[in-house]
Amino acid sequence: MDNRELIRLALEAREKAYVPYSKYMVGAALLAKNGKVYQGCNIENAAYTPTNCAERTAFFKAVSDGEREFVAIAIVGGYQGAPVNYAYPCGVCRQVMMEFCNPKEFRVITAVSEDEYMDKTLAEMLPHGFGPSSL
Ligand code: THU
Repeated sequence: MDNRELIRLALEAREKAYVPYSKYMVGAALLAKNGKVYQGCNIENAAYTPTNCAERTAFFKAVSDGEREFVAIAIVGGYQGAPVNYAYPCGVCRQVMMEFCNPKEFRVITAVSEDEYMDKTLAEMLPHGFGPSSL
């Protein structure tokens, strides 16, 4: 699975975003070590705070299916139409990644298209993170 294909799957997931309030559509595609990909979109709520980000939707789908080992996540976001800017993962989503991923190995791919993307480690995205090895 290359970066292009993972980004394509994130773009596909973004089409399912449930965003009646912000209208900001986010899609994520999470690659597990066994090669399976879990797609996620953001899911908003009239009470606002129950809103779930696309990245966490993908992680929670995967973990609830028994996955515990991950390679990379591709993330795309923006208002209707093709993304124009990088949609960086929020702090809460970075912390969820920290729970299940080796920060020096897990890659966070933020993309505007299959050709234009940034590929960083979780350690770069969340320096000095607090995770399971801290306890
Ligand atoms: N959102 C995500 O899905 N992922 C992020 O990392 C940042 C924010 C969503 C939440 C909300 O539905 C919309 O984007 C605007 O904040």
